[in-house]
Amino acid sequence: MGIVLGLDVGTSGTKAIAMDETGKLLASALVEYPLHSPKPGWAEQDPADWKRAAFEALSALAAKVNPADVKGLGLTGQMHGSVFLDANNEVLRPALLWCDQRTAAQCDAITAKVGEKRLLEMVSNPALTGFTAPKILWLRDNEPHLYEKLRKVLLPKDYIRWVLTGEYATDVADASGTLLFDVKNRCWHRELLSILGIDPEFLPKSYEGPEVTGVLSAEAAAKTGLPAGIPVIAGGGDQAANGVGCGIVRKGVVSASLGTSGVLFAHAEDVSTDPEGRVHTFCHSVPGKWHTMGVVLSAAGSLQWFRNQLWTEEWARAKAEGREVYEEITAAAATAPRGSEGLLFLPYLTGERTPHKDPFARAAFIGLSLRCTKAYMSRAVMEGVAYAMNDSTEIMRAMGVEVSEVRCSGGGARSRFWRQIMADVNDAPMLTINVDEGPAYGAAILAAVAAGLHKDVGSACDAIIREVDRVTPEAAAVADYGRWFREYQAAYRALAPGFKRAAALLG
Ligand code: XUL
Repeated sequence: MGIVLGLDVGTSGTKAIAMDETGKLLASALVEYPLHSPKPGWAEQDPADWKRAAFEALSALAAKVNPADVKGLGLTGQMHGSVFLDANNEVLRPALLWCDQRTAAQCDAITAKVGEKRLLEMVSNPALTGFTAPKILWLRDNEPHLYEKLRKVLLPKDYIRWVLTGEYATDVADASGTLLFDVKNRCWHRELLSILGIDPEFLPKSYEGPEVTGVLSAEAAAKTGLPAGIPVIAGGGDQAANGVGCGIVRKGVVSASLGTSGVLFAHAEDVSTDPEGRVHTFCHSVPGKWHTMGVVLSAAGSLQWFRNQLWTEEWARAKAEGREVYEEITAAAATAPRGSEGLLFLPYLTGERTPHKDPFARAAFIGLSLRCTKAYMSRAVMEGVAYAMNDSTEIMRAMGVEVSEVRCSGGGARSRFWRQIMADVNDAPMLTINVDEGPAYGAAILAAVAAGLHKDVGSACDAIIREVDRVTPEAAAVADYGRWFREYQAAYRALAPGFKRAAALLG
């Protein structure tokens, strides 16, 4: 039997899965770790936590499948994070994550130096606080004693790749999110590196998604119980890998993931950019292809925040009874009227990327009345996230991307009620598919292609993925939500200057 593994170095934990060549899930393991926010707007993790979690998760798999059958390991993970290494490969400081917002000054400096239009031409994306290049410049500007020692910058999963194989490597999809990658030509952008004064030697070699980047070292084998020599595949940034795992490998179908962040993701045959750079244009994990995506920073993360603040008692009770409190929250939300009687929620808990590119944006409930209960607020949170996703849908449609059916994934997509709201707000059917293992599954598919178990990524997806459920938009709801969506957009426009002033007051 041919077994392949996928390892996802995520934000809340590292997940490992094993599947056979038919895509059947054989085993999975999740090891969690904390996220630290030492200052407002900062988001950091300790790469040592990822390392421990990767070893634990892979060991758990090795105990559940026959290690001798393992043909390859595909890597994926949270994008944009910065692991700074010195000459001895020691980690210099905690990694700055994709949702870290401290680099506004560096983004402004990059844009001023290169020019907004030229930057889009060079790397197909604007300078955004979450991306990697401004993080490198932040280190140079704020911790020069560490910058002096800097020798390598690795993305989260690529640090784990180095731990497992001793190789410095990345994949083209994850590299696209650094702002240092020539997305059109699928290589590091030498000219931009030189303009920004970043040493090209800091960066690892880049590979296409299903390429082999090295093999499991004897040391990593001893720590995990897997045989040394297993090929370790480039894989992809978590969104591209999730796109593969959802079968978004050809024109026409798009996906919406409702995880901590929310992403609308479309396959692209060539490089097309939004002239305002509101959606990202990155290389895909399908060799020679690209993808566009809109990123909402707090999607299911918004509902999780709301649960943590206002559903604490029910959550504790549900936990004690072995139930999911989200079912209770969703049932309550379903009792509130469509549009939550004018109560709007802006889900900008950690600023927003698409469409605002605004690290200072903050979340807000607008339109509370005496009649608003926790149920109304819960529904408003779900609707607010759907409006935020619809911002991306509108931009993509304007770019000519067909958003005619959407494959949903992520924790939030488990709720049929939320999927219905998504269908009505985005005016597109929302589908679920037979697998919901997220990016780890896509990474395993890439490993299966590398191992020769499938001809290419497209045929692997055709063989493995099928639709299981579909909710379609209801005309009356589409019309109602269409009106509230314009109010939602107007609310941000009205509040944005205040968010900026508040950020200045907070220093
Ligand atoms: C994508 C992004 C997030 C992270 C989190 O651009 O920033 O989706 O990859 O997993």
